Amino acid sequence: MRVAEPRRCDVSVATGFLVNGDGHYRKTYRDLAGLYADAEAFAAILAEKADDVAYEVTSYTPGEKTSDLIMGVTRMEPGKVGREFFLTRGHIHAKGDRPEIYHTLSGRGIMQLESPGGEVRLVEMGPQQVCYVPPFWIHRSVNIGSQDLVMFFAYPADSGQDYGIIERSGGMRVRVMDNGKGGYVAEENPAWRERSPADVEAILGGGEMVA
Ligand SMILES: [Fe+2]
Repeated sequence: MRVAEPRRCDVSVATGFLVNGDGHYRKTYRDLAGLYADAEAFAAILAEKADDVAYEVTSYTPGEKTSDLIMGVTRMEPGKVGREFFLTRGHIHAKGDRPEIYHTLSGRGIMQLESPGGEVRLVEMGPQQVCYVPPFWIHRSVNIGSQDLVMFFAYPADSGQDYGIIERSGGMRVRVMDNGKGGYVAEENPAWRERSPADVEAILGGGEMVA
């Protein structure tokens, strides 16, 4: 049996990069249209910096099997749209039973989690704290600090990402907002629609979802 070569990658906390990986993608503010509650505030951000990088991911993908782990670093800018803290688009793994770990390297964030049945968990993340995201949770990260949020992550290489699950429900169930006192508060998203028992069952059944 052939065995894979080990690979050492270097993490630059200062720049928020996995320096010698093999993947890199960026999301600009323009790419995040429709995610935020305050459309007017979002339009003002677009007018100023539509093509600036909102967050980016550098990664290393050793293979494509369940037994391969994709690892990488995500870096997100600090800021708010109105009162809502900057966030990543969020997803559930297309193979829903695949987990993920996130290790905060710098900054202050929230791992925002939502189960198919609509349970919400907000996990505060600071430097050297690791969050285990169990299978079947929709997840996104939110930057509630004043600096870049930089996190290392790893997940099985065949997990895939389904972004549509959030759109199909009108967003995630809560929004992480500035509470005006240096902290955050979770506010109900009035546009959120509960998933039907059949949808929940289909997700938890472990089959691949159709966007
Ligand atoms: Fe993920």
